[in-house]
Amino acid sequence: CPPPQSGRPRLRVTRSTRSPVISFLASSPYGFVDFVPRRRGRRIRAEATARTRQEKEQQEAEVSAVEDSFAVREAAAAPPPEEEGGFDEELTLAGEDGDWVVRFEQSFNVFLTDTVIFILDILYRDRDYARFFVLETIARVPYFAFISVLHLYETFGWSRRADNIKVHFAESMNEFHHLLIMEALGGNSVWLDRFLARFSAFFYYFVTVGMYMLSPRMAYHFSECVERHAYSTYDKFLKLNGEELKKLPAPEVAVNYYMNEDLYMFDEFQTSRAPNSRRPKVDNLYDVFVNVRDDEAEHCKTMKACQTHETLRSPHAVQSSIEADAE
Ligand SMILES: [Fe+2]
Ligand SMILES: [Fe+2]
Repeated sequence: CPPPQSGRPRLRVTRSTRSPVISFLASSPYGFVDFVPRRRGRRIRAEATARTRQEKEQQEAEVSAVEDSFAVREAAAAPPPEEEGGFDEELTLAGEDGDWVVRFEQSFNVFLTDTVIFILDILYRDRDYARFFVLETIARVPYFAFISVLHLYETFGWSRRADNIKVHFAESMNEFHHLLIMEALGGNSVWLDRFLARFSAFFYYFVTVGMYMLSPRMAYHFSECVERHAYSTYDKFLKLNGEELKKLPAPEVAVNYYMNEDLYMFDEFQTSRAPNSRRPKVDNLYDVFVNVRDDEAEHCKTMKACQTHETLRSPHAVQSSIEADAE
């Protein structure tokens, strides 16, 4: 650091003026070390660090409060209107007058989701990319399970739901690209994380197949809970790390997926909007996580629709029928 200019008033730290002086010195281009004795400088630095930590904790508490308002059991807080892809739909929960079977299914799903979230919070408190890698490895599984069961039913001639299979496959491909993005960011660098993710995914597949055979409604509701957690995880990550993420480049796999690759498949999993109506930008890592978060919101909406609609319609099939009607 260059020495202070001659003629500049020498600053003196006193007890009564400590906080404003510390603030001024910390923001000085010369740095406060030049102006104060070493021991006092250390104390000032410790105080400044403690204050920064306190501010960070306060910010995390605020974000946590936002997340709590978007918890599995409760209604989602409405996002700002300008926020692209904002998701404000509530989790489907049967009321007091609902069927007791539905209430049991949903309570079980919420308990299961909360338990998994509790474990992930312990294991991945400070390792975001590893947590996302595990989440995305598991997130693909239910779509594969749905397709397996629907394919089996079709083979036996019991039912034919081609649109469901098509949409679930598109959802699975979307989750696959989320996984590639997390791998590109180093989320899979630790052997134990890879083992845990793949081991959990193996069992999750059979649990989902069994649940889907017993009650498709329950399996779709469980997936809605999982997708809702994925949305809120990415939303919280963006709120806490937005500024740093804007300075980092987007992985190539994300640019290719959102801008250059098969956009027919990208449109196919977005059942609540018309094809070609969502074309996100990918200028930096922040955009990538916004897109991933918004994808999770689309999955959530589809899972919710699947619980009430007899048959899911492919967005392209809907568009074709509208065009046919218009002719
Ligand atoms: Fe995902
Ligand atoms: Fe998802």
